[in-house]
Amino acid sequence: MATHKTIDFSAIDRVLETYEFKKSNLIAILQRIQEIYRYLPLDALTYVGTKIEGLSPATVYGVATFYAQFSLDPKGKYEIKLCDGTACHVRGSMPVLDAVRGKLGLTPDKSTTDDGMFSLETVSCLGACGLAPVIVINGKVYPKMTADAVKVALDEVIKQDKEA
Ligand code: FES
Repeated sequence: MATHKTIDFSAIDRVLETYEFKKSNLIAILQRIQEIYRYLPLDALTYVGTKIEGLSPATVYGVATFYAQFSLDPKGKYEIKLCDGTACHVRGSMPVLDAVRGKLGLTPDKSTTDDGMFSLETVSCLGACGLAPVIVINGKVYPKMTADAVKVALDEVIKQDKEA
């Protein structure tokens, strides 16, 4: 199960005030909430749906699930995208996936670490097939990954985070 945060409704109130509780600002409101939490918590969507005139929780939920830019699953501080497109799969993306899950304590049903540091998703192609298998962490491409190389890459991210 994913870890869900307790919602600070006063933070959402401030966002709603900034956007004047306007239905026409719903997308901007959801973008801002997603910036705060790195995803859209269900409780936040329900809250927004009850606070804006002319909307309902169901409508807000519908909008949030319609747009690919919104995530209803918690995201980590570091978002790992692991490619399992054809080129990456053929060159060994599955052992890399197993290594990432093993190192971070993730499973197919648990895609975010308990401390909120990492989240993992598999994607179908990152457009860098010549470098397969590829992972991307917060926009940085890691080429030609192996089970060992990905553990080193994650250690490096953890080290840099501590130093930051
Ligand atoms: S299949 Fe992995 S980058 Fe294209």
